[in-house]
Parts: sequence; structure tokens; C-alpha cells
Amino acid sequence: MQIKENYLLKKLNTFGIQAIAKYFVELNSLNEIQEIVQSKIFKENPFLLLGGGSNILFTKDFDGIVLKINNKGKEIIAVDADHVFLKVQAGEVWDAFVDYCIMNNWSGIENLALIPGIVGTSPVQNIGAYGVEVKDCIESVEVLSIEDGKMTELSNEECKFAYRNSIFKQEAKNKYIITAVTFKFSKKPILITHYGDILKELENMFVSPSLENISNAIKNIRRRKLPDPSFTGNAGSFFKNPLVSKEKYNELLHEYPKIRAFPSGEDYKLAAGWLIEKSGWKGKSLGNAAVHHKQALVLINKGDATGKEIIALAKAVQIAVKGLFGVELEMEVNVV
Ligand code: EPU
Repeated sequence: MQIKENYLLKKLNTFGIQAIAKYFVELNSLNEIQEIVQSKIFKENPFLLLGGGSNILFTKDFDGIVLKINNKGKEIIAVDADHVFLKVQAGEVWDAFVDYCIMNNWSGIENLALIPGIVGTSPVQNIGAYGVEVKDCIESVEVLSIEDGKMTELSNEECKFAYRNSIFKQEAKNKYIITAVTFKFSKKPILITHYGDILKELENMFVSPSLENISNAIKNIRRRKLPDPSFTGNAGSFFKNPLVSKEKYNELLHEYPKIRAFPSGEDYKLAAGWLIEKSGWKGKSLGNAAVHHKQALVLINKGDATGKEIIALAKAVQIAVKGLFGVELEMEVNVV
């Protein structure tokens, strides 16, 4: 384990923002994670956990120690008639893991194909796409407590999962390092095809629904809509889709009959991409930051954008949407 100083983070965040970490260390095993937490340098400095760097926006240098989680390994820990339980180390790359599950015919996360990041950060914001959230397949999350170095297993319920939210973004923020996640997958395929254009895409591909075909259909849709971070810096959806009351939704529907929304419990979840598009910001730039021209929920780095430029654009978008619809857009990305 080697602690580096003044480490450049540009290649380690999908937004491609230049920022410098005072200290940086890559942790390739659970032992290394445990060792760093006990070290003097860790105890004397603020820390930042970095997985795939796909949901983070640096607005300044980080005056502390950045920990890159990179412990690998997958193990079947139990099997019953219908399920397989798999414990996966935090540093496994998410998308490769999705493919691995499909290859083994284990069903549950095939709709979450092509999401950047690592297994260990998937519970933090409860990643979700195309009708599935990762919480649907999480049995438990193994964590190391920063305070006393103890390892604990949090049940699915204890993680308090919600839309793009969990205990790890709330009261447990900076309290734990997620070291592994245990998943529960179905041995029989449970195919989820109701969301958006999945069925249409399968039809265009001339294939019937299967784990692999659904995953490939979603990959096609994502590749068409979302910018590839290896070419265009971005962190996926920059904002959450806002929840509004039924009254507010009805009011908006009356004024904007084409508004896109989905019922969510008692409330309605509005498609923020639609709101941003209608506010006129889709495809527009502010300095080196822009709203993506195919999916307005995604902000992009046009080249050498700073984090502050991205934030300036985000604020302008928030003001426009609030002005037009009276709805607040909350950032989904973790701003540092
Ligand atoms: N829409 C527009 N204009 C736009 C973008 C979207 O009118 O510029 C409309 C679409 O036509 C559609 C609706 O908004 O009717 C929803 O769009 P889409 O299906 O693309 O999904 P989204 O709500 O914009 C969410 C997730 C994505 C996820 C997709 C698919 C959030 C914050 N984002 O986006 O997640 O891939 O659904 O399930 O919930 C991410 O979190 O980084 C991410 C990419």
C-alpha cells in the first residue's frame, strides 16, 4: 500500500474535472482498508471515498486523503431452491459484475447494465434504471466502522433504501466504509420489460425477452441517449427526478398536458429531463459546461470545465425550472 502525495484526480472522476488530492491511496484488499483506517495519516486528515468516480463533482482540491476502493472477489455463500446468495467485494466493477450474473443465469440486476461505478458504491445512492433499483437484490451490506474499526453487516432494512437514497447518504455518511455487498438473485429469470422503450428495442433487435437480450436492449438505449464518459465528461443524471404532491401534479398537468410523470406512492415523480428541456436549457452551454443535447438530465464537461462551471450551469438550470414550474431540482451528484 503506497500513499501518494499531490495526486491528480482528473482520470479518476467520470466528469474529468482536474483536482488534486493532498494524499491518495489505492486499497486492494480488506486488510489494506483496515490498515489505513488505523493509520496516523487517516486519523489526522479528512477522508474521501472514491469508487468509480462516477457520481462525484470536484469543485476544489481535496485537502485530505482520498481512498480508492479496489478490493476484488465474488463468492457464493448460500443457495436455496430459488435463489443464489453472492457476496461481492466492494471494488468489483459494476457493469462487469452485471455481465457475470447474466452469464450465470442469475436474475435481478440485468436492467442495471452499463451503469458506471463499482459494487461498493451501488447501495449508497441505490442505483436504479429501467424499472429496477439495486435495493431489490441487496440482502445485506458489509461495512467497516470508521470510529472503532469494527466490521458489521447491515440488513437491507437497516440501509433505509429509497429513491436515489440510503442511510449512507444520510445519518451514516462518513461513518462507514462499505467493504462488500451480499446480493440475492433469482435462479429463474424474472424479466422486467415494462419501462420505457425496452419492448420496442427488443422488437427492433428481432429477439425475445431473456436476461441477455434485455440487458443488450438497455445497453443500446443507454448508448444512444447517454454520453460515454470516456469521451465526454459527465456523471449520469445530475439531478434527481423531483417528487411533488398530487395537487401540485394536477396543477402542472392542467397547464402542461404533456408533462412526463410517474405515480410514486401518494406523490408523483416528475421527469426532470422534460422540465429542463421545456425550460429551454437542453443542449445549451454556460462556459465549458453544457446540458446534454439528447438527455437534459445530464450535464457534461465540454473540455476543460471546472467543477465551479458545472455548478454555475446547474444553478442556472435550477433557477429556470423553479421559475417556470415552481419545482426544486435536487442535485443527485455528490459535490466535493
Ligand atoms: N425526457 C425529456 N427530455 C429529456 C430527457 C427525458 O422529455 O431531455 C423525458 C423522456 O422522454 C421520458 C422521461 O423524460 O418520457 C424519462 O426519461 P428517461 O427514461 O430517459 O429517464 P430519466 O427519468 O430521465 C432516470 C434515471 C436514469 C436512468 C433512467 C432509465 C434518475 C435521476 N435518473 O432518468 O439514471 O438511466 O431513468 O431508467 O432517476 C443516473 O442516475 O445517472 C441515470 C442515468
